[in-house]
Amino acid sequence: MSATLFNQQLEHIAHLQREYDALLAQHGFDSLAIYSGHAAMHFADDHAASFQSYGHFMHWVGLADVQHSWLVIQPGKRPQLHLYAPDDFWHLTTQLPDEPWVSALDIKLCTRRTTPSLDGKAAVIGDVASLPQDTQQALNAERAPDALMRSLDELRVTKTPYEIACLREANRLAMAGHQAAQAAFIGASGELDIQLAYLAASRQRESLVPYQNIIGLNEHAGVLHYQHYELTPPKQRFSLLVDAGRRFRGYCADITRAYAGADAPEAFAELVTALHGLKDELVYSIAPGVDFVALHERMHEHLAEILVAHDLFKGTPEQAVTDGVTRAFCPHGLGHLLGIQVHDVAGLRHPDGSPAPAPQDHPALRLTRTLRPGMVVTIEPGLYFIPMLLEPLRDKALPVNWALIDELLPCGGIRIEDNVLVTESGHDNLTP
Ligand code: GLY
Ligand code: MN
Ligand code: MN
Repeated sequence: MSATLFNQQLEHIAHLQREYDALLAQHGFDSLAIYSGHAAMHFADDHAASFQSYGHFMHWVGLADVQHSWLVIQPGKRPQLHLYAPDDFWHLTTQLPDEPWVSALDIKLCTRRTTPSLDGKAAVIGDVASLPQDTQQALNAERAPDALMRSLDELRVTKTPYEIACLREANRLAMAGHQAAQAAFIGASGELDIQLAYLAASRQRESLVPYQNIIGLNEHAGVLHYQHYELTPPKQRFSLLVDAGRRFRGYCADITRAYAGADAPEAFAELVTALHGLKDELVYSIAPGVDFVALHERMHEHLAEILVAHDLFKGTPEQAVTDGVTRAFCPHGLGHLLGIQVHDVAGLRHPDGSPAPAPQDHPALRLTRTLRPGMVVTIEPGLYFIPMLLEPLRDKALPVNWALIDELLPCGGIRIEDNVLVTESGHDNLTP
C-alpha cells in the first residue's frame, strides 16, 4: 500500500468519525449500529446467493463480502467492528486486510452470530429485517429515522481523496479487462469467452463484480441490461457492447465500450466514432454548478444532431427531440452517481435531502442534482436500435430513414461510458 493511499485511508476514517459524531449528536443518538447484511440462501437448499455488504458498512471498512457483522459508532469513542469469524474448518477463517483502518477501529472477532450491546439512545441501519425475530428483538435500538438516513446518504455523495483514489484504481483495473475483451472480439470469440477474458485481465472472479457484466454481441448490444453469455460465437460479427466494472476496496468502476465488427455496415462504425465524440463533449462540460438534468437534455440535442448528420433522421435536430425520436434511440439517463454502489445513493435528492425526482419525459434518469466538487458521475450516452421502441415511430409518419435503420438493426446499439470526478475547476476523467 503506498504511503499516500495509507494516509488517505486514515484521513477518510477520521473524516467519517467527525461527520458521524456530528450527525448522531444532531439527530439525538448516543450510538449507531450498522449491520453488514448476510447472503440469502436459495430456497430449500444449502447454497447462498451472491452477496455484497451494505453500502454504509463498506464506507468504513471497504470489504464487500463481510457478513453477519456489525459496526458500532458512538460519538467521541473509537468505532467498534464486531466481525463474524466463526471457528470453521469448512471455510477459510475471516482475514483482516493489511490496511490502516484495522488499527483505527476496535475489532472484536465473534465466533457466533451476535448483536452488539448499544449505549444510550441507539439507532440501527442495514437489512435488519432479514435477521431472525429474536435477534431483532435483542437489539436495543430503533430503526434510524429517515432524516438521519438521508444525512448518512448525503455523506457519500462527495468523495474523500481516499475514495477518489480507489475509484481511479477500480477504473484502471477495469480498463485492463476492457482491452482484453476488445482483443477477444477481434479474435472472433463468443460472449462467454469475452467475459472470461475480461475477468482474467481485470483480476476478479465473477461473484465479486460490482454488477453483472453486460457482454452483448450483435443485436444483444441493443438489450440494455443483457444478462446472458452465449457459448457459441455468432457467424457474423456486427458489433460488441461491453459494460463491465471492477471493485477496488469496495469502490466501483462502471465502464462501457462498443465496437464495430468486420460485418458491420460502415455507417455503424461511423456512429461508434460519433458516440465517442459525444461522450467526450459531455465530459468536457462537467464542472461545479452544472445541472445534470440540463446536461442530459444536451445529450439529447447532440444525439439529434448525430441522427441528422448520419442520415438516420431527415428532419431537423429540433424535431428529433420534440417528437421523442431521440428518446426512442436512447431510453436511459445520461448517468448516475458512482461510489460504493454502482448506482450510488442520493442521486434523486437535493442537498437538504428533499426529493428531486426524474423529469416526466426522462423517467430513467438517476441523477437530477447540481454537480459539486467531489462528486463522481458516469457519463454514458447511448444510441440503440431497439425494435420495441422504434416500431411505434413507424406509424407516426416521421422523416426517419427506415432503410438505414433496418440495415443497422443487427448491430444492436452503442453506449460509451466513462467515470468522471467533479473538481473545483472542472473535471477529472477517472477512466484511462
Ligand atoms: N452498468 C450499469 C450502468 O451503466 O448504469
Ligand atoms: Mn452506469
Ligand atoms: Mn455501465
